[in-house]
Amino acid sequence: MRPTKSFWKDLPLPIIGLAPMDGYSDSAFRRVCKFVNPNIITVTEFTSADGIHFSPEKLRRRLSFHPDEQPVMAQIFGKNTETFVTATKFCEDMGFSGIDINMGCPSKRVVRSEHGVALRKKPDLAFELIEAVAKTTSLPVSVKTRLGWSCSDDLIGFAKGAQNAGADMICIHARTYQEPYNVPAQWEPVYALKEALSIPVLGNGGIISYQDGIEKCGPLDGFLIGQASFGNPWIFSPEGKPALFSDQLSVMLNHAKWLIEAKGNEVGTREIRKHLLSYVKGFPNAKNFRSALSRVGSYEEILSILEDICIA
Ligand SMILES: Cc1cc2nc3c(=O)[nH]c(=O)nc-3n(C[C@H](O)[C@H](O)[C@H](O)COP(=O)(O)O)c2cc1C
Repeated sequence: MRPTKSFWKDLPLPIIGLAPMDGYSDSAFRRVCKFVNPNIITVTEFTSADGIHFSPEKLRRRLSFHPDEQPVMAQIFGKNTETFVTATKFCEDMGFSGIDINMGCPSKRVVRSEHGVALRKKPDLAFELIEAVAKTTSLPVSVKTRLGWSCSDDLIGFAKGAQNAGADMICIHARTYQEPYNVPAQWEPVYALKEALSIPVLGNGGIISYQDGIEKCGPLDGFLIGQASFGNPWIFSPEGKPALFSDQLSVMLNHAKWLIEAKGNEVGTREIRKHLLSYVKGFPNAKNFRSALSRVGSYEEILSILEDICIA
């Protein structure tokens, strides 16, 4: 059954999810995280609404997902209501469980085009986009944004506007536009926001373990984990990473298999390299295998190197 607008309110608390991350939270990694904890929610990498409007078939592959990932949300970005409407319908037809609107991306290219976090400077346009998406679909619509441009002064006003425009959930990356990804996140303004809204509020930023997520979540409805999941999908399990490398192997091999399945051998083996290097980071014998891992060209090669690490 298709999720409805009450989806976010009906989920058991705390809601835990993999943050959308371009270059990381693709179908294979989302599957891996769900394999570790089947109760999490996942979000696609951000995808251009204009791109979907003008070249839908080009983006179908980027957005494709496996049924095991559900509930998976499609994240779109842009600034044009017409292309947002097309993109919403396209994602609905693909079977996504919800539409997430990116109003937080700080990349130069995105901000220069007045997309992503730039919409915080144009709140009326931001609300128009949310309303257009919410009216187009019966799926739940969420918004992911930051504390603000340089401070969180307008956070509550912006989030209330988003709620009034039809957002069913809002996720706050607890850093401003001007703060890089590695500075400590400020969660207090997100807790204050929770008091002011009736829709669920998720927090995100700087979570380093499952327990840390539970603690930071505090009064919020849930949290998303980003960078700390690199090479560590076990972060989504209360038990954390298995102590033995041999017990981590099945997850790594699934990751490689699913990535190659989704993107083909050439792209899949190229893209798995950075994940493999993250997986073995800190492992005592890893340094002897790093250069081999950074050149893998087939699933069999990956299997053989990882098995060698196990017995080394
Ligand atoms: C490599 C990378 C790519 C990202 N891509 C996206 C994206 O496509 N959409 C989005 O909303 N946020 C994106 N983010 C932001 C993350 O979703 C998250 O808000 C941020 O990393 C903070 O969480 P963390 O401190 O747990 O990593 C990205 C972050 C990183 C590091």
